[in-house]
Amino acid sequence: MNTVGFTRMENGTVEDYALLSELEEQYVRELPDRLMDALSRLQKTLPGYPITRLEHSLQSATRAHDAGEPEELVVAALLHDIGDELAPVAHSEMAAAILRPYVSERVYWIIRHHGLFQTYYYHHHLGRDRNAREVLKDHVWYQDCVDFCHNYDQNCFDPAFKSRDLEFFRPMVERVFSNPKPEFT
Ligand SMILES: [Fe+2]
Repeated sequence: MNTVGFTRMENGTVEDYALLSELEEQYVRELPDRLMDALSRLQKTLPGYPITRLEHSLQSATRAHDAGEPEELVVAALLHDIGDELAPVAHSEMAAAILRPYVSERVYWIIRHHGLFQTYYYHHHLGRDRNAREVLKDHVWYQDCVDFCHNYDQNCFDPAFKSRDLEFFRPMVERVFSNPKPEFT
């Protein structure tokens, strides 16, 4: 049996849910492959920039890696805009939700808020408040998010920058996504 017998969850059996649990565990283990596929598709999002979102993501991760950042932050940098395609007005939340079971609360917080913090670099050009992020200025990780945006995001649109390729980061993605925190399993 590789398909459950029910058409309504309320009618499922012990055997049905044992099967689904086993298949779900395998599906979760394959997440790194799906993330790599999703990253490779970031070539078509958000027109107008000098480079693709994939190249931007690779620049971000390369800069974080070369600066000696922890592996979880390098992987977070690689994934920080993965929500651009399907959550273009809430992309920080989407990336943060993907990362949350696998990274520290600090790295989760940085990615969760990076979209707001990035507005510092352009909102004044649109007649909006570039300092909106200051509502979070007393947070313990405020400066970490400021630094992330300054060092690994706002500066990562350079066509001349030589990034590592996507496959360079695959082992890091596999390691970070191999071990979800107990509260998520
Ligand atoms: Fe970005």
